[in-house]
Amino acid sequence: MDTTQLAPQALASSQTAIAADLRQLGINFNHWYAVARSRDLTHTPLAVTLWQQAIVLYRDRQGQVQALEDRCPHRQVKLSHGQVVNGEMECAYHGWRFGQAGTCTHVPYLADNQKLPTCKIRVYPVQEQNGFIWVFPGDDTAATAKAPLPLPEWDHLNYIATVAIIEAEAHYSFLIENLMDMYHGHLHDSYQAWADPVLQDLAATSEAVHAHYAAQSYYKIDKIWSVSQLFFPALRRLHPEPLDVSYLYPNWRSTLGQDFVICCLFCPQGPTRTRAFLIHFTSLNAFHRLHKLPVWFRRWVRDSLFGSAQKLLDGLVEQDVVMIEEEQQSYLQNPQRRGPELNRALLSVQRLIRQQAQAGE
Ligand code: FES
Ligand SMILES: [Fe+2]
Repeated sequence: MDTTQLAPQALASSQTAIAADLRQLGINFNHWYAVARSRDLTHTPLAVTLWQQAIVLYRDRQGQVQALEDRCPHRQVKLSHGQVVNGEMECAYHGWRFGQAGTCTHVPYLADNQKLPTCKIRVYPVQEQNGFIWVFPGDDTAATAKAPLPLPEWDHLNYIATVAIIEAEAHYSFLIENLMDMYHGHLHDSYQAWADPVLQDLAATSEAVHAHYAAQSYYKIDKIWSVSQLFFPALRRLHPEPLDVSYLYPNWRSTLGQDFVICCLFCPQGPTRTRAFLIHFTSLNAFHRLHKLPVWFRRWVRDSLFGSAQKLLDGLVEQDVVMIEEEQQSYLQNPQRRGPELNRALLSVQRLIRQQAQAGE
């Protein structure tokens, strides 16, 4: 914000806004948010929460995902207690049904002289892409101008995916700061994830922060059996690799050399609760002989190895969540207490969170 042109009173209030507590800021609703994994939505409705908004997901008769406000307008109970009937959401309580327009389409005991109630619930733009269900909680008209975070590795034959779920009783800012501050590899020494990070470059825009670190990696995936390094520490050798991390608001993407891509899809549920999907991709790009084999075989290799980094990923998440939740607790006990921060990437991250939260107000 350019404050040079503001009158003293306006300047004071803008500085107050700038100083507004980061740990209580909301989200910018005008983005697509991953709220569930595709495979978790089957024939029964699925309740999800996105920044204190209760949403029910279900599949219509064509298998297309629909997203409605999770509230029956009759008696205000959750629609997600109900079931899907003829591709519509049926409330568990009195059996009223709601279609994809969010209007009531059926009341089982409607008398001949009665009309269907005209109540309407909110319909969210929703799409299914790359193994996840994405909801746009902002202004509907802005949805088409934005897109979910691209995940080109998800369906690619050369990438083995592993997914871990992060559930943290903490504001989302603590999680993104954890992910952008690669100096916290110290916490994960027992897992040998990366070593010796040094922040070298930092770039920020109104939509993103890119931090480039020089680091060391323990893993080199240049043969198909190199994947076994994920299980056997004796096979690992430290070697230099670039480590790039980006806050692509509201999500995060990183690469460690040529071999690993990790993404984190944020689903902030409220001021002190964050859910996120961490996706780890191991690249088989360097294994050239694999590329000459039949596609069915490559697909079989990829699918058989799905989840091969699960132990590593779950272990990292567990360690991070302890720290993040402790930061949140300390903050709640004493919101004024601030420690010194030496990583300038975090200042850029905090600035972006503020800008985006303000843009979404
Ligand atoms: S509360 Fe949903 S049908 Fe009555
Ligand atoms: Fe971590």
